[in-house]
Amino acid sequence: MKEALLIVIAYLIGSIPTAVWVSKAFFGIDIRDYGSGNAGATNTFRVLGSRWGTFVMIIDMLKGVAATSLYILLPYYTHSELERTNFMVGLGLAAVVGHIFPIWADFRGGKGVATLFGMILAIQPLVAVLCVGIFLVVLYLTRFVSLSSILASIAFAVFILVIFNEKEPLYRAFAIAVALLVVLTHQKNITRLLRGSESKVPILKYRDR
Ligand code: G3P
Repeated sequence: MKEALLIVIAYLIGSIPTAVWVSKAFFGIDIRDYGSGNAGATNTFRVLGSRWGTFVMIIDMLKGVAATSLYILLPYYTHSELERTNFMVGLGLAAVVGHIFPIWADFRGGKGVATLFGMILAIQPLVAVLCVGIFLVVLYLTRFVSLSSILASIAFAVFILVIFNEKEPLYRAFAIAVALLVVLTHQKNITRLLRGSESKVPILKYRDR
């Protein structure tokens, strides 16, 4: 029973629509009517600038960390180590679902990348850092945030399934789910990438910073 309640709380934390609330509270607009229409950090960077983009990215990431960390409220003597780790995955995914389908914003949220990253950071910090490295390399080479997100999520699955050769079935399923989820939430980006109409991160010249 307590587990179900914690999953609901994780979903509600993930549902906090940071980009929507920031755009409405400070700019009187709904971020979903501008740019890519996505209620996430990348579109906030694009529409409202780097300061607010960074703010949204940090809060969306912290939602994943906070929701996943709710596992500490489970009494440790009633659950094995494996059960607790599995429960962390459930909490994190509930937050990611909340981010994508937020109850506080008409169920129209973001693509889940920052919240997924926060969740992975809480569960597998080393793999999270490796995925950030891949994200940054792809971003540097292509300047597409969407492509960087997609390839970093696929890299996450490869790290867990192949490089670290994880044996726990739930973890293996989780790794595949992360890659599939990110590909699914980026369908419009994939179409734009194939058509050559996806927007790139601008290169800041020194005087523009
Ligand atoms: O995390 C979302 C990012 O990968 C793409 O965002 O606004 O370009 O669709 P956007």
